[in-house]
Amino acid sequence: MCGIIGFTGTANAVPKMLKGLSVLEYRGYDSVGIAAQTAGGVDVVKCKGRIHVLEEKLRDEPLPESRCAIGHTRWATHGGPSDVNAHPHRAGRVVLVHNGIIENYRELAADLQKSGVTFLSQTDTEVAAALINACYDRLGDPAAAIRQATDRMRGAYAFGILFDDRPGEVWVIRRGSPLILAKGQDGFYLASDMTALLPFTKQYCAMEEGEIACLTPEHTLLMREDGSTQPAVWKTTSMTPESAQKGGYPHFMLKEIHEQPGAVRKSVSPRVADGLPDFSADGITPEFWKTVKGIQIVACGSAMHAGLVGARVLEELAGAPTTVHIASEYRYYPPLFSEGTLVVVISQSGETADTLAALRYAKSRGVPTLAIVNAVETTIAREADRRVYTYAGPEIAVATTKGYCTQVSVLWTMAAAIAYACGRMDAAQARAVVAALEQEVPQAIEAMLAKRDQFARIAKGLVDHEHVFYIGRGLDYAMSMEAALKLKEISYIHCEAYAAGELKHGTISLIEPGTPVFALATDPALVDKTESNIREVRSRGAQVTMICREGTAVPAESTDEIVYLPDGSAPAVLFAALTAVQMIAYETAARLGCDIDRPRNLAKSVTVE
Ligand code: F6R
Repeated sequence: MCGIIGFTGTANAVPKMLKGLSVLEYRGYDSVGIAAQTAGGVDVVKCKGRIHVLEEKLRDEPLPESRCAIGHTRWATHGGPSDVNAHPHRAGRVVLVHNGIIENYRELAADLQKSGVTFLSQTDTEVAAALINACYDRLGDPAAAIRQATDRMRGAYAFGILFDDRPGEVWVIRRGSPLILAKGQDGFYLASDMTALLPFTKQYCAMEEGEIACLTPEHTLLMREDGSTQPAVWKTTSMTPESAQKGGYPHFMLKEIHEQPGAVRKSVSPRVADGLPDFSADGITPEFWKTVKGIQIVACGSAMHAGLVGARVLEELAGAPTTVHIASEYRYYPPLFSEGTLVVVISQSGETADTLAALRYAKSRGVPTLAIVNAVETTIAREADRRVYTYAGPEIAVATTKGYCTQVSVLWTMAAAIAYACGRMDAAQARAVVAALEQEVPQAIEAMLAKRDQFARIAKGLVDHEHVFYIGRGLDYAMSMEAALKLKEISYIHCEAYAAGELKHGTISLIEPGTPVFALATDPALVDKTESNIREVRSRGAQVTMICREGTAVPAESTDEIVYLPDGSAPAVLFAALTAVQMIAYETAARLGCDIDRPRNLAKSVTVE
């Protein structure tokens, strides 16, 4: 999704914009631009395409040396990718960059047109710039103009704004879209997320909803909606610049898959005390778990898939009836809440607009909420009643791997904590679950990473196919959903997940000689049934790869290839299967030459509904 960077201080700002924008590339974008301020006003250079296109343009049309600038990577929503739709946008004395969507932009544009304003682009952002400019012309004060203009806007926004006649000042406001401020040795920064600022500083300040900030080379002042002002309070992030670099791997996705063993340990360990599941470090007591009578998990994409695995484990271990909801649908098909319902939202980025809207809906109904989030101090983490961080570290590849992996590990730990608090598990059983998660799971993932040659061979057999299926039962079906998403989003090969027993109710008609079918069969109790389904597709010519525990008796005629998972506890085997499907997706996309870390049309941190 769109990325914003900005700086004002004593150093040359344009190289900083280019550096910050290159870090923000991971969010997904189709155009890019920079505005640089000098005593003479603000100059803009922008274009459709990647940062190297902008760099070429800057060689022909260099920006003046400037100590105050804003930059933007755009992911098109209103108006296709083009030079004119790229940000920054200018209107009168105002130049701005925007992340989010102004929902009532047509109505605002119509009003502005009546007073003679004309627009060059198809974007909602240019309308926002024109409205702020009109208010600035009238009021002559940036803060008042921004407040008056944004009071008329519906939707979500984070703006970085320069005024021609306010040298050295960057103005900022956010509502619904992420934006953070930072303090460096040579000035002050703003950015959509901390990773873009790691090359410059570790000191940051998260902005509240509706807050306006004015950054100058000397200080940063925050202005609340109630009119009160205060200087920014700085915190120090534990992220390092290295955590947002590839570290010798060809792709962030591969690096992040390899980071999973450590990420699981880091996410589970803080929730273990004396060998037992314990969330007191997150401020959650056994008494709170005892009040939980039912759970609604709400999330998008892979985070929702993590919820599907979590729901089964929560029901099985904790006996808590659990439903899983796609966040963008949650408000339109309102679920029934009853005494003891807990809404758990899951989000790696902590900024996903659909998940945030669902969280706000649940809160508006007075239901207790808990967020499982990776990026600290993000909107979802701040707004939920309780938060449990996954400690995956920055996830840069658009397709999540370690984010999903840590979400599942935390949900599993949570299920054990509830089960133990409610007396459904004794201490020995609870200890066994957390020991499996903390020790066995990381080892199982490592063991699978050693099988890269097999995954590469499997990938070779997939690249010429248009359609692939993943099938499984129980937890394997939940995991199949994630496996199919991973393969299709990065390799562009169409892939569907099906409950193994459901295929014969229609979809089996798509199976042709050679169609690749992956059968996940990690649960010994379900292997025989899944094997029957494998035979159904194999007898219609499918090319079957079975993913199952070592020692599973697989008749030779049932499968073309077997990926063996180290035998062990249920979580260890499931996480081993996860690693296998991630690596199969990765190797396939690599063989096809796809842009693995930034698949087409996708964005990290989807901050629009
Ligand atoms: C797929 C993927 C997405 C995200 C989804 C939710 O690989 O990454 O499906 O899982 O957009 O994002 P978060 O977890 O940031 O809310």
